[in-house]
Amino acid sequence: MSERVIIFDTTLRDGEQALSASLSLEHKLRIARQLERLGVDVIEAGFPVSSPEDFRSVKAIADTVTDSTVCGLSRAVKADIEACGAALKNAERSRIHTFVGTSPIHIHKKLRKTESAVIDLAREHVRFARNLCDEVEFSAEDACRTEPDFLCRIVEEAILAGATTINIPDTVGYVVPELYAQMVDDLMNRVPNIDQAVLSVHCHNDLGMATANSITAVKHGARQIECAMNGIGERAGNCALEEVVMTLATRQDYLPYECGVVTEEIMRTSKLVRDLCSMPVQPNKAVVGSSAFSHSSGIHQDGILKAQNTYEIMTPQSVGLKENVMNLTSRSGKHMVKNRLIELGYREDEFDIAEFYTRFIDLADKKGTVYNDDLIVLMELDGENVAD
Ligand code: KIV
Ligand code: ZN
Repeated sequence: MSERVIIFDTTLRDGEQALSASLSLEHKLRIARQLERLGVDVIEAGFPVSSPEDFRSVKAIADTVTDSTVCGLSRAVKADIEACGAALKNAERSRIHTFVGTSPIHIHKKLRKTESAVIDLAREHVRFARNLCDEVEFSAEDACRTEPDFLCRIVEEAILAGATTINIPDTVGYVVPELYAQMVDDLMNRVPNIDQAVLSVHCHNDLGMATANSITAVKHGARQIECAMNGIGERAGNCALEEVVMTLATRQDYLPYECGVVTEEIMRTSKLVRDLCSMPVQPNKAVVGSSAFSHSSGIHQDGILKAQNTYEIMTPQSVGLKENVMNLTSRSGKHMVKNRLIELGYREDEFDIAEFYTRFIDLADKKGTVYNDDLIVLMELDGENVAD
């Protein structure tokens, strides 16, 4: 059996942070139930200390979800961790995710502390969290701009203190795949107790590389990917869940790892998040955009009609769609038009495709997309082709 990559979903935490209106408890619960059905391993449900409503939502999710671990976020601050512990108390499996900034800019400008004080904070708060939940995750915030020796030191200390997941977030979406790979290699080779924790990645998409960075990190030894449905999250968003999951699903030759996501639930989850978060999905968004399985070029349409994988690397059914979409335009060929007429119920002896196609192109040139209703009208306009 192949190794597993843990899918940690942060739609309800990092994703929700980026919305103009916060989600209600009821909506958060609906999304959490769907994420559980989707099969994610961990649901990061919120940041309980941030507001009474967020506390209530995390608690309601922890009280309800049974198949996924429920996680709450906390700074390396006792009150945050206590709030997490209280919100997660009834969870079937609970995780506290505590973080502290580790890059020079975070340590000196934001926290106004020394490196050793930050190590103390990490050690002390991981230890404190350990008694309030089943598992503790530690994040070295802004890891990609952190000095490598310091990163190794703080990771080692967090593991000694009891963290079982170590996350190295690209908080500002700054890293590129090759450099992220070097970071992961460095941690794997230099942190003596790294094998006692799962290495996790959390990539932001400021330069559009969140998925590439996450996948590269897995190739180099990371075994948890933090991601959000439709890629929502701070600024340009988080790594998109659907992209990493479908990369794992379609590229087993390159990444022979399994994950627990039921890919057929992807579209349903995407639409729910889109609607409840009032966050539209761009049409050409990978995997879940409305054009992700639609074909317009005549050459592509003809290829697909002959063998679906000529122009599709995954099936629409594998992400929960009924079928792909063939847009009829002036670029569509005779083969495609004829196929659509037959799908609409016309018999081959009811039309002369060469003649019909000339009229179709005429209309498509004027109109752009030709819909099924247009085809029916076009058939009826030609007296000779109207069925008796
Ligand atoms: O981007 C980030 O660094 C975060 C941490 C809290 C993990 O969201
Ligand atoms: Zn983040």
